[in-house]
Amino acid sequence: MPLTTLLLDVTDGIARLTVNRPDKLNALDAMVIHELGEAVTRIEQDATIRGVVVTGAGPKAFVAGADIAELAAQTPLEGKARAQAGQLVFRRLERCGKPVIAAVNGFALGGGCELAMACHLRVASEGATFGQPEVKLGLGPGYGGTVRLPRLVGKGRALELLLTGAMIGAAEAHRIGLVNRVVPAERLLAEAEELLRVILAQGPLAVRLVLEAVEAGLDMTVDEALLLEAGHFGLLSATADMREGTSAFLERRKPGFSGR
Ligand code: COA
Repeated sequence: MPLTTLLLDVTDGIARLTVNRPDKLNALDAMVIHELGEAVTRIEQDATIRGVVVTGAGPKAFVAGADIAELAAQTPLEGKARAQAGQLVFRRLERCGKPVIAAVNGFALGGGCELAMACHLRVASEGATFGQPEVKLGLGPGYGGTVRLPRLVGKGRALELLLTGAMIGAAEAHRIGLVNRVVPAERLLAEAEELLRVILAQGPLAVRLVLEAVEAGLDMTVDEALLLEAGHFGLLSATADMREGTSAFLERRKPGFSGR
C-alpha cells in the first residue's frame, strides 16, 4: 500500500523519511504511527538503505506531537494501546541496525521530541523548538519521553522539561545535550546528510555493532555491557572490514570497506 502520511525517498543509500501532514504540523495520528511501522520494515529489509534522515514537511514543524484530537477521545485502555504502539515503532526505528539522524526543522513537541530522541543523532535548525508539553494537557509522555529524555540530558534537566511543559529553543537544546548540532534552516538537510555520510564512510559492521552495544548496553549492568562490548570487539576481528581498516592504516591509505 502506498504511504499517505509519510514520504520515503531513497537516494544514494540514504532514506529520507518525512512526516507529511503539514496542515496539522505533522501531528502523529494513528495512521502516521501505522505507516511509520511500514517504513521501518522497509528500512530494516531494504539493503540499498544504509542510513536514514527523519524530518517533517513544511517550514514550521518537525512533529508537533501526538494528534490531540485523537487523544481527547481515547479511553484508558485505548490510551495504553496507543502509547505501546508508538513506543514499539520508535523502538524498532532505534534498533533498525542503521544510523538514523533527526533533522529537526521546527516544532518538536511531545511525540515529536520523542521521535527525535528515538533517532541516534539530532541536527536542529536554528528556529527549532523542543518540549514535552503533555502535562499541560493533563497527560504524561507516552512515546518514551520519560525514558529517553533523562538518559540524554540527565534527570534534573529532564524533569524540569517534563514537569513544566516548557518549550526551549535550539540553542538551549544544544546546551543541555538534547541536540548534537544547530545549523541554519537552509542547511539543515544537507548538514544532516553530511553527518550521516561521515558515519557511512566508517566500517559498516563496526557502526552496526556500536549502535547495538550502546542501545543494549544502556539497559545492562556495567559488567554485562563491558562483556557485550568485548564480544563485539572479538567478533569484529573476524571481519574483512577489520582487516581492511587496520591494513589501510598501516599502509597509509584510505580503507575500502565491503561490509563483510
Ligand atoms: N495534534 C493535533 N493537531 C495539531 C497539533 C497536535 N499535536 N499541533 C498542531 N495541530 C494543528 C492545529 O490544531 C491547527 O489545525 P487547524 O488549522 O485545523 O485548526 C494546525 O495544526 C496549526 O496549528 P496552530 O495551533 O494553529 O499553530 P500555531 O503556530 O498557532 O501554534 C503550536 C503552534 C505548536 C505552538 C501549537 O500548535 C501547539 O501547541 N500544538 C500542540 C503541541 C502539543 O501539546 N503537543 C503534545 C501533544 S501530546
